[in-house]
Amino acid sequence: MLCFLNGIRAQQVTIGKSSLVGEGIAEFVPAGYNPDETPSLILKSEPQYRKKLPDGWKLFPEFYSVNKKANATLKLEGNISLYGGGEVTGPLLRNGQQIKLWNTDTGAYSIDGGKRLYQSHPWVLGVRDDGTAFGILFDSTWKAEMLTDPDKIEFKTEGALFRVFIIDRNSPQEVLKGLAELTGTVSMPARWTLGYHQSRFSYGTEAKVKEIANTFRAKNIPCDVIWMDIDYMDGYRIFTFNPTNFSNPLRLNEYLHSKGFKSVYMIDPGVKYDPGYKIYDSGTATDVWVKKPDGTDFYGKVWPGACTFPDFTMPRTRKWWAGLYKDFLAKGVDGVWNDMNEPAVSEIYINGYDKTGVVLSGDESGTMPYNTHHRGGGNLPAGSHLLYHNAYGRLMVEASYEGILAANPDKRPFLLTRANLLGGQRFAATWTGDNFAGEDHMKLSVPMSLTLGLSGQPFSGPDIGGFLDNTTPDLWANWVSFGVFLPFTRGHACAGTNDKEPWAFGKDIENTSRIALERRYRLLPYLYTLFYQAAQTGLPVMNPVFFADTRNLNLRKEEQAFLLGKDLLIVPAFAVQPQLPSGIWETLSLIEGDTTDQYQATLKVRGGSIIPAGKIIQNTTENSFDPLTLMICLDEKGAAEGQLYTDAGDGWAFRSGDYALLTFKAQKKGDKVEVTFQKTGNRNIDAEISKVNIELLNNGKIYHSEGSLHGKLTVLMR
Ligand code: GLC
Repeated sequence: MLCFLNGIRAQQVTIGKSSLVGEGIAEFVPAGYNPDETPSLILKSEPQYRKKLPDGWKLFPEFYSVNKKANATLKLEGNISLYGGGEVTGPLLRNGQQIKLWNTDTGAYSIDGGKRLYQSHPWVLGVRDDGTAFGILFDSTWKAEMLTDPDKIEFKTEGALFRVFIIDRNSPQEVLKGLAELTGTVSMPARWTLGYHQSRFSYGTEAKVKEIANTFRAKNIPCDVIWMDIDYMDGYRIFTFNPTNFSNPLRLNEYLHSKGFKSVYMIDPGVKYDPGYKIYDSGTATDVWVKKPDGTDFYGKVWPGACTFPDFTMPRTRKWWAGLYKDFLAKGVDGVWNDMNEPAVSEIYINGYDKTGVVLSGDESGTMPYNTHHRGGGNLPAGSHLLYHNAYGRLMVEASYEGILAANPDKRPFLLTRANLLGGQRFAATWTGDNFAGEDHMKLSVPMSLTLGLSGQPFSGPDIGGFLDNTTPDLWANWVSFGVFLPFTRGHACAGTNDKEPWAFGKDIENTSRIALERRYRLLPYLYTLFYQAAQTGLPVMNPVFFADTRNLNLRKEEQAFLLGKDLLIVPAFAVQPQLPSGIWETLSLIEGDTTDQYQATLKVRGGSIIPAGKIIQNTTENSFDPLTLMICLDEKGAAEGQLYTDAGDGWAFRSGDYALLTFKAQKKGDKVEVTFQKTGNRNIDAEISKVNIELLNNGKIYHSEGSLHGKLTVLMR
């Protein structure tokens, strides 16, 4: 059927096949769809379960082809709040937004949406007034635009037909679990990755790194990780170390380990064109490079100058790349940071590597030309950059993840990536790229991380303090004070900007930073439990406030305050008239001075919940639970419930039962509150959790008691 779509001649494509592939999850395949033209790089695996669509199924996409470019539309009925789209600027509530899906290195991005960023999440979540919800996944990596209009969701690609998945369930949380059934969940992170991370572009010498590490310990400011940006390398050659400034990385990493730190090092995809350089030579010998349409190697400029780029669509390349990590990690490197993997290319070389570079224009600028050739293999067809660009980072991090795991099979890989694709949360955490040291970017970091969480990626956060430009003491203090409640908490700063460590802004702000970081460290037992739940179910770690009451329409736009899990409400100090959920919410204090310091966020515990907290530790090699504190806030019926998950903190023994999952229940009887618990998992936690403190929050008062997991846990409300 011929029709007009926004005034353009469009051919409607019928739905060739539709079926249920999970509970409330439908797959729609347009007639003529060919997986060799649009392979799936988003799904974790092909759905196995298949049934006929039930009678009464309401949500059907419409497929169109406009000049052989495929589109899909979902018409909306009624009042729907739209969310998602992955890494986006602009508001949390996405009605009336338009984004480009074309992964791009975009520093100092505009805060009001529209711009393309580093990642692609072709996914929209819709929440109806009655709190029921649906989600639509466009299974395509082709260059695209996604519109979330008031009356329709539209996905317009520059490529071939693709499949659509629609999830229709009774709450947004259930829809997100459905998304995880299709695309997988984050892999359970090691405990140290939830601590504070300190980074800078770059700590330039071994001595400087040690000085930073020592200052954290001398000042008793908790920190787990120090990051090495590109200057640790020898001339920006990946998998090398600068012979002068980082001459003995093993010695440096062992030093860091001895002080309770872990280290993360950057690895970019561009390999310096440099015959004689081991990585370039082995990549050339293995024939892994991305090609120009004429079949010769593609050269583009990044930090090291002219580079070749691994073609991660080829299984051979992924295997070669994975193999590079073994020797690298053997130097005591704990985690890896994959950057510039949109891929970012500032200039391309037309006639070989040594001629003057050319700067492309339009959407090709800053990356490879559309017709650059990827050779594919395995399940992936050969294809153009227009098809594979948005999957470049995701294929890279899959290969990195495999390599890190193979090198250290007894550890949980930690990988941070700048570019990614929906589903790529299985391999890497993310941060929101090169933000700016300004108040608007600080505020934006809340809806950005929330939206990533609503798009399958629970492990994200911004460069706290702002990456570009100098940071004022006031901005740092505000940012760190709520940034410590974001899932990934890292301070980072661009070269040439002022020092941005927690002590760099004078004594008062140092104290503010310490309080904020101590608050995060006290909450590690709760955070770790939330990550366990995210890894099990796909639920985000950080949630929008409206999750507390999905029918309260006043909460749908709230993007200053947010929830950590479902039980802890965080109201940053900058928040002006935030819309907060009704019901019982008790203010929580975790550290002396945290409720009087002007910068700290206000924390509120939901009535009916029990939050497990630990003591202040300086890093996660110390035992958090000495004692374990249960922070209890009763509901109207005098009841509360909460969970604590704990395991070895790293490794995979938890998969064969070496974990403890404690479900606590509290019940008020007269003026006494009794706490009981049930434990699953085989881990013996007697040595770890020898003492339990109870803090019952009620009407602004706190009632204390002490006990142990082997005795009675009670607290008197008098
Ligand atoms: C990119 C990254 C930034 C990093 C810099 C140098 O701009 O986004 O985080 O510091 O490259 O490697």
